[in-house]
Amino acid sequence: MDQNPTPIPEPRHKPNPNPNPIATPTATPPDILRCAYMDIVVTDLAKSREFYVDILGLVVTEENENEIYLRSFEEFIHHNLVLRKGPVAAVAAFSYRVRAPEDLDRAVEFYTELGCRVERRAEGFTKGIGDSVRVEDPLGFPYEFFHDVEHVERLAWRYDLYGPGALVRLDHFNQVTPDVPRARGYMEDLGFRVTEDIQDDDGVTYAAWMRRKSTVHDTAMTGGNGPRMHHVAFSTHEKHNILYICDKLGALRKSDLIERGPGRHGVSNAFYLYLLDPDGHRVEIYTQDYYTGDPDNPVVTWDVHDNQRRDWWGNPVVPSWYTEASLVLDLDGNPQPIVEREEPSEMAVTVGADGFSYTREGDVAKGFKLGDTL
Ligand SMILES: [Fe+2]
Repeated sequence: MDQNPTPIPEPRHKPNPNPNPIATPTATPPDILRCAYMDIVVTDLAKSREFYVDILGLVVTEENENEIYLRSFEEFIHHNLVLRKGPVAAVAAFSYRVRAPEDLDRAVEFYTELGCRVERRAEGFTKGIGDSVRVEDPLGFPYEFFHDVEHVERLAWRYDLYGPGALVRLDHFNQVTPDVPRARGYMEDLGFRVTEDIQDDDGVTYAAWMRRKSTVHDTAMTGGNGPRMHHVAFSTHEKHNILYICDKLGALRKSDLIERGPGRHGVSNAFYLYLLDPDGHRVEIYTQDYYTGDPDNPVVTWDVHDNQRRDWWGNPVVPSWYTEASLVLDLDGNPQPIVEREEPSEMAVTVGADGFSYTREGDVAKGFKLGDTL
């Protein structure tokens, strides 16, 4: 069986200047299948359990006094989310599953050539997962790769257990990094392909979405002070499942957990809702984006001033969504220092007196909601 990554033609998109690239390794990258789980540190495990289990209904695979291992209803690997009790709320790992055990050797070679710190544990870093490689990647993010994993019951047919807001899959991560073209180049070297991005006419890239599996993304790079974690996203089957979650939060008098939405994205075309967990980690509930698996999948580039890019209905993006994000940890468990973005911020160029957005390009008399409401 051919275990090398399938060659994908170069994507077609608007030129994306990258004046500060990370050198491309000569080593073959690991063949990544998909984003698989996020390992996060929370400060109050009981409060986090209430949010993720009692309210959102994620399935507990295993738990003890220090950790809770959670999965979505259609998952068959041990977990999609680890809640780990600790002193500082942060992300310990963005974890990807690779196609074969040999891909872990490739990950070691790839990141060693990049000069990154690399740690490999045959017994894994979490329960339920075997041989794993963790790295501090060139952008400062803790990335993990694994293949061997304990299979657990896929609850897809267990409608006796489903709630109306059931979370069925882990869909993607979203990362905040100062230099999006630099991040994009490195991720393309790692085998990811860009599906959509946001740019302006001056050649600034504000965000880029990139995939391994055949959806819009496994992770996105959002321009901002970083490295930080913007959000982790779980899928529901349909839009009404997201509306149920909103109704439930209202009924529980916890509507203040809703940061943004519900709405439909322009980018990705998905229906969305953003929630904040008890530590301020952002969780997106997401459904119904589109298939991207053909090698010539067209790249969609959005104008940063298009008021429908972030919300298809033109509703405003709350400022906290642009500014707030979670710390990420190095491999010793210490928060990574934050580097400021030097290029213009998406919030600054689109919101308020200094920014502008349009609903119809060229229509300046009327057509934006953002500047009016914030
Ligand atoms: Fe997202």
